Amino acid sequence: MNVLVIGSGGREHALAWKAAQSPLVDTVFCAPGNPGIGLIAKGKRVDINPGEPLMLEMFIEANEIGITIIGPEAPLAAGMADELTEKGHAVFGPTAAAAQLEGSKGFAKDFMLKYGIPTAEYRKFYNASDASAYVQQRDEPLVIKADGLAAGKGVTVAQDMTEAIEAIKIAMLDREFGEAGAKVVIEECLYGEEVSILAFCDGKTAVPMVTSQDHKPVYDDDQGPNTGGMGAYSPTPAVSPKMLEEITQRILQPVIDGMAEEATPYQGILYAGLMITEDGPKVIEYNVRFGDPEAQVVLPRMKSDIIPIFQACRNGTLDGVAIEYDDRPCVTVVMASGGYPKAYEKGKLITGVEDAESDPDVTVFHAGTREEDGKLYTDGGRVLDVTACADDLPAAIAKAYEAVGKIFFEGAHYRKDIGQKALTRLT
Ligand code: AMP
Ligand code: GLY
Repeated sequence: MNVLVIGSGGREHALAWKAAQSPLVDTVFCAPGNPGIGLIAKGKRVDINPGEPLMLEMFIEANEIGITIIGPEAPLAAGMADELTEKGHAVFGPTAAAAQLEGSKGFAKDFMLKYGIPTAEYRKFYNASDASAYVQQRDEPLVIKADGLAAGKGVTVAQDMTEAIEAIKIAMLDREFGEAGAKVVIEECLYGEEVSILAFCDGKTAVPMVTSQDHKPVYDDDQGPNTGGMGAYSPTPAVSPKMLEEITQRILQPVIDGMAEEATPYQGILYAGLMITEDGPKVIEYNVRFGDPEAQVVLPRMKSDIIPIFQACRNGTLDGVAIEYDDRPCVTVVMASGGYPKAYEKGKLITGVEDAESDPDVTVFHAGTREEDGKLYTDGGRVLDVTACADDLPAAIAKAYEAVGKIFFEGAHYRKDIGQKALTRLT
């Protein structure tokens, strides 16, 4: 069968790469994709944007697409899964109603409260003066969150009242995130180590994948502003098998049960961003898709064919599917454009990718690249996800950085400490 992946980042390259390994698959199309997709033997880019549903539908029909996998949150929140399903096409990804879990932080918090899922205490506000009055009463660090989708930029961890009021102003008055900031959620600050747990869901059951940890701040030692994620590794020793069991029972499965009760069954990927606090794991956020760059370390470890798993999610038969993973840990280091996450230039020549991939344990996923006359240029903030698997974590980290050392573009920057938290914990 043919498969269509929607999206253009490193996550979508990893998804297409994994889908292409399935013996069931003839061609993996990716719309709009990136130059990395063209390097996959069965991969083909399609010049259609997710914002063109009619074109996509025509493409799906003309190319006999057996399943469409929606990578990013924006088309999910906008109802792409609903539209394609209505037209009779097979889709992997939640409906717009279910995707509110990521699309509205207020919705997610109310849902967690209703179903007793551990998370930070919160209040919702609909105007800036009420929100400011509230933070003035609270003499403690607070987290200010724009309600809607803001490409990971809508959250401020405010150390004091001045920062909190500034964050409220930026979201609600300046409308820096557009309508996403019309409402805000203000919540207590949680302390601990952050981890990412991704799960396959079929409307009845949530089946967690192997654990991973992202590195969101731009600089080493978690300094500087947040990014989409500067690197990841899997598994993380911050989550024991016993804790993963507890997370499944208290944080993943209740979403599936609650969504079923609300008559909006949850099918697709559920991503729980967790803080491992002194009182146990608490939810920072839910996302309704694979993490980026978490997918780039979880998918290479998956030994099972992913296509039957996607189909089981759609058919409600996930319960009977065994999903196998490689024990070898995996690390990805994000190489970013100079200036990212603030303003950055594009169009810098990239060299050395082929050399880096000469090691069979190394895969370079493209996140923001452009190809012209057979040459590769930077075309985004996060440019490449340099990924390596090895027998142990120190070896995987060493291999990933060795590969990074072979790649060059002007202004490139990356964190030097991906996986360091795990090494500290292990020693
Ligand atoms: P989110 O977009 O909700 O994942 O928030 C982005 C980042 O802000 C998270 O990855 C955390 O590092 C931080 N954050 C969000 N909520 C909290 C919280 N309640 N306590 C501490 N940090 C938080
Ligand atoms: N890596 C964080 C995210 O995908 O939201």
